[in-house]
Amino acid sequence: MKYTLSEETGVGKSYDSKLMMRLLRYVKPYRHLFALTVVLVMLITATQLARPYMIKVAIDDHINGLHIPMITSQAGEFSIGNEVLTRDKRLRELSSVNEIPLDLQIQLAQVRQIVVYEDAHFLIDGMIANPSSPSKVTIREDGGYIFEGQPGRELLAEEMQQFRNYDIQALTKIALLFLGIIVTGFAMGYLQFYLLQYIGQRVVFDIREQAFTHLQKMSISYFDNNPVGRLVTRITNDTENLNELYTSVLVNLFKDLLMIFGIMGVLLYMDYRLALVAFATVPLMLFITFFYRLKARAVFREIRIQLAKINSNIQESLSGIKVIQAFALQKRKYEEFYQINTAHFKANFQDLILFALFRPSMDFVYALTLALLVWYGGSSVVQGTIQFGVLYAFIHYTEQFFRPIRDLAEKYNVMQSAMVSSERVFQLLDEPEQIPDSTTALVHEQPIAGRIEFKDVCFSYNQKDYVLKNISFTVNPGETVAIVGSTGSGKTTILHLLARFYEASRGSITIDDIDIKELPKAHLRSLLGIVQQDVFLFTGDIQSNIHLNHPDITNEKVREISRYVNADAFIQQLPRGYEEPVTERGSTLSTGQRQLLAFARTLAHEPKILLLDEATANIDSYTEELIQDALPKISHGRTTIIVAHRLSTIQKADRILVIHKGRLVEEGTHEELLGKKNFYYTLYKLQYH
Ligand SMILES: Nc1ncnc2c1ncn2[C@@H]1O[C@H](COP(=O)(O)OP(=O)(O)O)[C@@H](O)[C@H]1O
Ligand SMILES: [Mg+2]
Repeated sequence: MKYTLSEETGVGKSYDSKLMMRLLRYVKPYRHLFALTVVLVMLITATQLARPYMIKVAIDDHINGLHIPMITSQAGEFSIGNEVLTRDKRLRELSSVNEIPLDLQIQLAQVRQIVVYEDAHFLIDGMIANPSSPSKVTIREDGGYIFEGQPGRELLAEEMQQFRNYDIQALTKIALLFLGIIVTGFAMGYLQFYLLQYIGQRVVFDIREQAFTHLQKMSISYFDNNPVGRLVTRITNDTENLNELYTSVLVNLFKDLLMIFGIMGVLLYMDYRLALVAFATVPLMLFITFFYRLKARAVFREIRIQLAKINSNIQESLSGIKVIQAFALQKRKYEEFYQINTAHFKANFQDLILFALFRPSMDFVYALTLALLVWYGGSSVVQGTIQFGVLYAFIHYTEQFFRPIRDLAEKYNVMQSAMVSSERVFQLLDEPEQIPDSTTALVHEQPIAGRIEFKDVCFSYNQKDYVLKNISFTVNPGETVAIVGSTGSGKTTILHLLARFYEASRGSITIDDIDIKELPKAHLRSLLGIVQQDVFLFTGDIQSNIHLNHPDITNEKVREISRYVNADAFIQQLPRGYEEPVTERGSTLSTGQRQLLAFARTLAHEPKILLLDEATANIDSYTEELIQDALPKISHGRTTIIVAHRLSTIQKADRILVIHKGRLVEEGTHEELLGKKNFYYTLYKLQYH
């Protein structure tokens, strides 16, 4: 068994900017939607970044806001006695009035703070390091209190109520805002996901359409070299995979990076020292990710190889099922499959092991980061250099920070396979049309007579071994010429060249003295009626296989022609007649019946020239008779070339061309050639006696 693996093993880069630019070009028709998606992604990231920060504000400014130093001012948040006070967060992390920097322009006499002592609240002039448990308290003789040197007085219950109400209102506002942000984030998330999927699916639709149209134009030699199964995968799986590039790679990569840098920014802004502590594990994380990707790449490659093997093995086993059963090869085939399947399982399992190792490693790094934060951040909170809310926000952000990094590593395989897929799809799209219409190709308006001439035609399928060598012959309008020769002598190839399925390597082929290269391919083929050796039937019914959806061919015409070529009798006997469904390429019909159908199909399209590759398979004598009766009818008035295998066909021909190993060796009528006692005579002896 031969695998063409070269194409399936390509692993490629996980990120290729040229490929990305090309992918972006497909987004162009949807650029407005795409721009909207990008804006949404930025807004969504902003809402996600805002959430921990809002909680930090709630904790530090309001839940723990009571001790924030205040300054007296004209207008402010609280009126206590005959003073109006405003909280000033800039003073929060200072431990005494002496530390107030000059540039804040706050006079020492302006500073006030609430201090708790023995379950009572006091308002002091100035500020102290530990307002919730002042260290040195003296009670004056007049009953006044001194806290660490700052005088204070006890606050009345209704004065305290002012502070409580203020914080509760603020918390309510924050909670509502939080809710608002979550709801907007949710709505934007929905819209963004929808748009992205929509764009991705549209692009896949467009690319698939383009690939299909492109493949329809490819010449037959392209299909000789590219197994159908592989091409099918290109248009189905690979284009679908490509969708991943838009949905997970292109946008999510942007989203993840935005998130990572956003978080780093917010952390540095909140507290650069704690941020550096949080980043301490980043090198370890990078190392693990790098290591994982390195290993995953090799494993992933192995999985792909094995999967490709499984695919081609199954494909071959199923299409060759008749041979397998006939030769009782099931067990051997099973063993072959078992081995490949096991290799695939092992490769997949390795991937799982690797992943099972990667995931906990990342969790470990995450936990390590948390531990560092609790240790350093916790101590700082205790020392009062960091607010508790900041530490809380850091812990929250760290979790958000790890998610995209983990995702990026985990999506690596998806990215890779999507990249490989897109490479392949583009490779297919870039494949040039091998036999393009000449730029000067013209549809010749005047009806053609049908004179065919081959002049010194040489041809090779592989640019090496010549299958046809200096073939020259002429077929006059209306003439019927039979081509005979042993199997593999090049008979079918002659018809292929005339239909321009392949391009002659040398020499010229003309119809009415017009080189067929100067005719548009579609026009050339509309002149020709080709009946191939094994007739291909499409899924549909008998009728549609004759008219092939040609708008000018009516059902009446189909019946009339079928009667004419003797196909009507067997069609009528089918349970649903002309509407009898055709499935599986018409495998329920016999070779002879299919040949008759092909006659009807060809005749219905009224070709000027008929090319017929006679079926070699056994045809029952009754159908054989029907075919022999139909043949002169369909070739009547048309130039006809028949690759003939039956003596009766040959005898009816005006002339016989004998092909031997790619050369035209004899030409003449049946009797003339028999008389020569050479190639034809030998062939005749071998085949018909
Ligand atoms: N698509 C192809 N690619 C490569 N070689 C081909 C192809 N088709 C036919 N051949 C080779 O060309 C030779 C002539 O084939 P063909 O014209 O089909 O012979 P015939 O119809 O006389 O039996 C054979 O040796 C065959 O193996
Ligand atoms: Mg043939």
